[in-house]
Amino acid sequence: MADQHAAPVTASAPLSRTEAVPVVPALRWEDLPEGPVIVLLDQRRLPAAEVELVCTDVPALVEAIRTLAVRGAPLLGVAGAYGLALAAVRGFDVDEAAELLAHARPTAVNLAYGVRRALSAHHAALKDGAGAQEAAAATLAAARALHREDAEASERMAEHGLALLQELVPGGGFRVLTHCNTGALVSGGEGTALAVAGAAHRAGELRRLWVDETRPLLQGARLTAYEAARAGMPYTLLTDSAAGSLFSAGEVDAVLVGADRIAADGSVANKVGSYPLAVLARYHHVPFVVVAPTTTVDPRTPDGASIEVEQRSGLEVTEFPGSGASAPLAPLGTQAYNPAFDITPPELVTAIVTENGVVSPVTEEGLAELCARSRSG
Ligand code: MRU
Repeated sequence: MADQHAAPVTASAPLSRTEAVPVVPALRWEDLPEGPVIVLLDQRRLPAAEVELVCTDVPALVEAIRTLAVRGAPLLGVAGAYGLALAAVRGFDVDEAAELLAHARPTAVNLAYGVRRALSAHHAALKDGAGAQEAAAATLAAARALHREDAEASERMAEHGLALLQELVPGGGFRVLTHCNTGALVSGGEGTALAVAGAAHRAGELRRLWVDETRPLLQGARLTAYEAARAGMPYTLLTDSAAGSLFSAGEVDAVLVGADRIAADGSVANKVGSYPLAVLARYHHVPFVVVAPTTTVDPRTPDGASIEVEQRSGLEVTEFPGSGASAPLAPLGTQAYNPAFDITPPELVTAIVTENGVVSPVTEEGLAELCARSRSG
């Protein structure tokens, strides 16, 4: 892989109750004497090591996206925008860069959104008569703005989400089940669903965070547990298939998940395993709440069936994560079904929490109205 190297960073600080974000930011832009770079906290290595990955060009960033060194819908949008800025500042073809970046992964709509937003800033600057350097500066400014807005959206979602939990679960002391990873590792701020759990924790109202391990890449075990531990949350890890017994024992007050894409009708694409949780939640009369910024809502996708679900290599299922063929989990040659996401229909979603407020029940009109508030404000 061209122009990419990994460098260890300083040892992690001891766990503390107040820390809401990782010590090492999930993504940052850095101006080095030899040129600008995008520095990622390599999420493939967590929690064993906090290692930074330095991307000096777009192919390196695309590879980092494909292999989940950087991941999660909102952060993919931010990464896509900075990737375009990197191409512009380093004098590469921005249209070609946009093509490569926007198609690095297909489901999270934020990625294409971030790329499109930075590309529009570049084109608009050129149209206004800017030179290459000025256009590149405008592209970087657009990426920085998206990064900042995403952090602000996190804060708003946490506030709205906590208020909703207080309404849905009278008496407080929430026992929340979550899936995949939705914290500061996926965002410019504290994240989406995990930001709500964090706000509940700081308010002294989080009794238990149930963390699904999230097969096959273990984002729950590796990343959510890492973030929950850092924030001092009371959390317990479970295998995905143990969720049913937890519901039937009456141990779950609410499910909080993020989203990779929300169709116009309110269908939610999120990490595979979310849909079974929604079915379980409905059966057990437990609220199933989706927390996502309006940048995750895609008005161009009419319904769940129109969402492209990323299919990933079967090796992620048949081999122990990260170990390669040396630690097989299934006989050599076993075929595996490995969709990265599944679709939850709107009727199973109790509420969608965005930075602009909450839609519940989830309707096409209600969702469109919430999103319009971002465009008008
Ligand atoms: O394949 P990943 O790890 O990128 O999947 C991420 C998820 O499914 C998250 O739940 C989703 O992006 C929402 S995070 C705000």
